[in-house]
Amino acid sequence: MAVALIVAAGRGERLGSDRPKALVTLGGRPMLEWSVEALRSVPAIERIVVALPAGALGDAPEGTVAVAGGAVRSASVREALRACPEGDPVVVHDAARPLAPARLFERALAQLERSGADAAIAAAPVSDTIKEVDPSDGRTVTRTLDRARLWAVQTPQVFRRDALERALIGAGDDVLTAATDDAWLVEQAGGRVEVVESSPANIKITTPTDLTLAELLLAEARV
Ligand code: C5P
Repeated sequence: MAVALIVAAGRGERLGSDRPKALVTLGGRPMLEWSVEALRSVPAIERIVVALPAGALGDAPEGTVAVAGGAVRSASVREALRACPEGDPVVVHDAARPLAPARLFERALAQLERSGADAAIAAAPVSDTIKEVDPSDGRTVTRTLDRARLWAVQTPQVFRRDALERALIGAGDDVLTAATDDAWLVEQAGGRVEVVESSPANIKITTPTDLTLAELLLAEARV
């Protein structure tokens, strides 16, 4: 059976809130609860572990296992994985993406099963043109990337347990700090990662504007 790890231990400073980002109210309840509800409706998932700030473990939704997160996102994933010694595959999801629908988790799990890959990750084709800028002056364009090949990566990310364990447990703190997603760690370890096409509406809440947009998307989904 599968297990799900929700990382919710970020402080969310850019949101300007007095509480951890995952506990900020969205659509009348803590943001974290939207992801828990979606995951609860996926029959293949038998357990949900939530990584929270050490002072907020009491805020874990009922029926989930709470664990203190780490200093950086991938360290929180590692702590959650350690707290859950069984379960394969492993679904990793950011509490900061509360709009991920249950069917996206199901599609990612099905693609992992079907493909034989080490990971299947939600992603949306990019619609903007992406350019690289010289970091030494912060404004001179050095390269324009081929948009047809670019995908903006989201969560959920679904992993074969042994691939995720190899990538995370063996990684040094510097590597974990550099990782903005766990699939990159699996790629570094030689694993094969596939994208699962997802909607750009599966936004990550970072700023107050994102929160406003999420409220609008939720209201629209309810009509
Ligand atoms: O900060 P950012 O929005 O990129 O974080 C993505 C997700 O990782 C959020 O759900 C956040 O709560 C989580 N996170 C964590 N532990 C950290 C930093 C971020 O669980 N140390």
